[in-house]
Amino acid sequence: MKELSKIALAVEPSTTLAIDSMFKQMKAEGLDVIGFGAGEPDFPTPEHIKQAGIQAIENNETRYTPAAGTVELRKAICQRLKEDCGLEYEPAQIAVSNGAKTCVYVALRALVNPGDEVILPAPYWVSYLELIQMVGATPVVVNASEAEHFKLTAEKLAAAITPKTKCIILNNPSNPTGMMYSREELEAIAKVCVEKDIYVISDEIYYRLAYDNREFVSFAALSEEAKERTLLINGVSKSYAMTGWRIGYVAANPKVAKVISNFLSHCAGSACSISQKASAVALAASQETVDEMRRAFEERRNYMVERMNSIDGVSCIKPEGAFYVMMNIEKLIGKELHGTVIRDADDFGNLFLKYGKVAVVPGTGFGAPYFVRWSYATSMENIKEGLNRLEKFLAGETI
Ligand SMILES: Cc1ncc(COP(=O)(O)O)c(C=O)c1O
Repeated sequence: MKELSKIALAVEPSTTLAIDSMFKQMKAEGLDVIGFGAGEPDFPTPEHIKQAGIQAIENNETRYTPAAGTVELRKAICQRLKEDCGLEYEPAQIAVSNGAKTCVYVALRALVNPGDEVILPAPYWVSYLELIQMVGATPVVVNASEAEHFKLTAEKLAAAITPKTKCIILNNPSNPTGMMYSREELEAIAKVCVEKDIYVISDEIYYRLAYDNREFVSFAALSEEAKERTLLINGVSKSYAMTGWRIGYVAANPKVAKVISNFLSHCAGSACSISQKASAVALAASQETVDEMRRAFEERRNYMVERMNSIDGVSCIKPEGAFYVMMNIEKLIGKELHGTVIRDADDFGNLFLKYGKVAVVPGTGFGAPYFVRWSYATSMENIKEGLNRLEKFLAGETI
């Protein structure tokens, strides 16, 4: 048979999968393992949103919708963007699809030609790297250290731009680092993007999860020039505990939004009509449940960060948003633990699972080989026990 697509064959399975499948295997064997890999809220979807979905089925709202999403949902998105981010968009500038992940893909599809370069700040969410390659573009990874709070600077961005650069992917607040850009940092980045004529795919899916009363600034809200070149990505997964409903969206200038909507009309049809109804209610109703979840995440973050920094051999900086902590394991590199010399985060992750019965995500797949990511989208009880285990594991004990 003929060879499959070169682009498709080059797609790597998620690097978080190896530890995750070991974790699941151990759990299936009845072992007492705790997972900190979750990329989704552990809360159920709030009741009023679930009821809206049930109602949509009862009302026979079960047919195709416009390719870019129902007018009701797109209006609700515009209203939320206005209230939360001070942004003015028309429904025609919004394209809804099956989760923010698909939206990043179609945003890239709308922008790049094969051979174009896309700037990707590291540590990055692992799917970005694959998605860039899936559209035939070349990722240009720009590293940001822990001392830089894992954030891209305008200087580093400017240095990475070539005549082939088409866009940059920014994720604020960030998965995997949990860090957030300040208004000044974003303004400096926007200045470079405008001067050099670069588009910005700004993934703001964690925007409602900002702690310590920190101001979240949407990239598109910086200026009219910034808004013109921003493809804003967002969705309901993280803010409303709706990961399984699969609704995300892109907001962009009318020309880009139209191109994306044309693309979606052929490759996706429309997103699920029932999920769209539930999402419209999620966005339009009282936001109290979002705040409740945020408060719970903030409490967990505070505990995790303080405890982690009290344990010898590891440390972390305090994340400002999302629900992840990047634990620094540099001090453990080259040391022997449980009979094995630790070379990188993969070694650490494997050993910690085997001897500590805790699954974390090695940063190797995020472009951060001396860090592991802990998600605190799990119960306080699990967090406390996970950190007890970390302490014992590092002291050479086996769980
Ligand atoms: C940075 C980032 N963007 C997008 C997504 C995907 O969101 P969705 O569930 O809407 O596809 C995730 C999920 O983990 C994420 O971490």
